[in-house]
Amino acid sequence: MSESTLRAHRSEEAENIGRNPTANATMGDVIATRYHRRDLLKGVLAVSAISATMGPLALATARQARAATPSFAFTEVPVGNDGMHHVAPGYDADILIRWGDPVVAGAPEFDPMAQTAEKQRQQFGYNNDFIGYVPIDGSAEHGLLVVNHEYTIEELMFPGAAAKITKEDKFGYLTPELAAIEMAAHGGTVLEIRKVDGKWQVVKDSPLNRRITVDTDMVISGPAAGSERMKTSADPTGTKVKGMLNNCAGGITPWGTWLTAEENFHGYFLGALPDDAPELTAFKRYGVGAGEYGWGKFDARFDVSKEPNEANRFGWMVEIDPADPASVPVKRTGLGRFKHEGASTVINKDGRVVVYTGDDERFDYVYKFVSNGTYDPAAGKANGNLLDDGTLYAARYNADGSMDWLPLVHGQDPLVASNGFHNQADVLINARLAADLAGATKMDRPEDVEVDPKTSKVYVMLTNNTRRKADQVDAANPRAENAFGHIIEMTPPDGDHAATKAAWDMLVKCGDPAVAEVGATFGAGTTKDGWFGMPDNCAVDHQGRLWIATDGNSPKATGRKDGVWAIETAGEARGTSKHFFSVPVGAELCGPCFTPDDLALFVAVQHPGEEDAEGNPGTFENPSTRWPDFSDAMPVRPAVVVIMKQGGGVIGS
Ligand code: FEO
Ligand code: CA
Ligand code: CA
Ligand code: CA
Repeated sequence: MSESTLRAHRSEEAENIGRNPTANATMGDVIATRYHRRDLLKGVLAVSAISATMGPLALATARQARAATPSFAFTEVPVGNDGMHHVAPGYDADILIRWGDPVVAGAPEFDPMAQTAEKQRQQFGYNNDFIGYVPIDGSAEHGLLVVNHEYTIEELMFPGAAAKITKEDKFGYLTPELAAIEMAAHGGTVLEIRKVDGKWQVVKDSPLNRRITVDTDMVISGPAAGSERMKTSADPTGTKVKGMLNNCAGGITPWGTWLTAEENFHGYFLGALPDDAPELTAFKRYGVGAGEYGWGKFDARFDVSKEPNEANRFGWMVEIDPADPASVPVKRTGLGRFKHEGASTVINKDGRVVVYTGDDERFDYVYKFVSNGTYDPAAGKANGNLLDDGTLYAARYNADGSMDWLPLVHGQDPLVASNGFHNQADVLINARLAADLAGATKMDRPEDVEVDPKTSKVYVMLTNNTRRKADQVDAANPRAENAFGHIIEMTPPDGDHAATKAAWDMLVKCGDPAVAEVGATFGAGTTKDGWFGMPDNCAVDHQGRLWIATDGNSPKATGRKDGVWAIETAGEARGTSKHFFSVPVGAELCGPCFTPDDLALFVAVQHPGEEDAEGNPGTFENPSTRWPDFSDAMPVRPAVVVIMKQGGGVIGS
């Protein structure tokens, strides 16, 4: 297998940046070099040794910490490096749906040796990421599950593809039909699901089941709709677009729609702009033209030398009404264009709608959108139009624990014509450039941002940034070569999410607390299984407890696989973390989503089998695990897992 697999630069673990496709060391390599693998392993051992030999005072502190942690009552699952998933004792973790399973009525069964684009358009897509649950008639036992399909991995999906991917030609495997399958495996899925005899299942052939792909018709709304920079030969109005790209995390709005976040859209475009092209600076800032997918070989809209504006039509937040299979998805440009990770929507106490969102790239920003209009429960899905009219802000974190939300508004200095911003569309299309000028704080890859509705506190996952140099650290990004990430907690004043000021604090700096040099700050009760690195997605359950999903732990990097950890946010046990679920080797864990009764937790196992415990890449023929089917006739498959307590009960209680 060539070193230049698509995987190395498409994987989140490789820090998802496409500009340096072949030279990226994996995060495991970076960490092993930085901290020395033996020290790390010693660290793992040291924690167990410490707990075995703790003095009375330390033990008392640890006991106190444990006594103060009644909120998560489960026995931890040990960390491991195998090809299975594991959940805390007393829980079941069952497969709900896998890549290729039938979705729309009449869809064919999956045959990995005879896959076509036509079949894939009707089947569950690849690399499930965000998961949202929308109740039907208010039920916690019958609803719509919406799932993002972030990206495809050809060497795991297609027989024989791995052998044709070489340093010289990374698209050596690609045919027009395979490109069409890849497009059909992207996007999203809506599933009607129901609990039957205590088990969740997909309602087969439901008319509500839907696939959204790179070909689905969408409309563009908000201030950037109709901009000259949004017009293409296929859409001279700049208001219509086909499909969405690299949908990572997302959110469910209070009015029951699905916000799905276009993240690494830049890698889908081939070709280069002329040297004097006006878009050149912005394309560089966004990394457009990296060409991680070869679709542009067959479809001009993915070649920027032929359709220079097509890339401006991706990188947005897309709103979809999952209850209406005929609804047309809407790209809400008011929320800005960047590599959106997720979206957490709250109705502020004055009725305005606030959406928190992060831009997942090293040294990029945390944002929020505040609507001008106010939420009207009677307006139902029409509340979505509130997202077209409001203010986008970028976050500045000050060293004294205060923070400022900087408005990105055209005409307010420095977002003026002399700096290249001629209207609000320019500000939103180039939100990154606007936030650069406004002076936002450059963060260590902002992933999920989630609101705890009970406390109004807002949690920001910062996954890692090994490129931060010692002279680039600041209060909110305090570690140079930040390999393990951290979590910031923001507190709006008097719970006012629309305010332009807030306070912030560090919840935890991640990594192995037993290796002093790492500088991790987990609570004292955290065990050798309880710490994690690389926080990515998160969920606040309906009891107000925070659950973290990770992306980038590996046997090599952290002596553990990715998974779900529960972390205390209040009281003496604040920062104490417990390990609840682990993925099969090679996977990351996405989309943690609780049902409204907290009796079920849905999780997305993404890119299982992508590599083995040593970091060697997997292929269709030779994956590092054949999860979840464990059949020689089936490739490894990303899948959604549903976790429930045996005999019933609230998860983690
Ligand atoms: Fe697709 Fe930032 O994770
Ligand atoms: Ca990630
Ligand atoms: Ca991912
Ligand atoms: Ca993610």
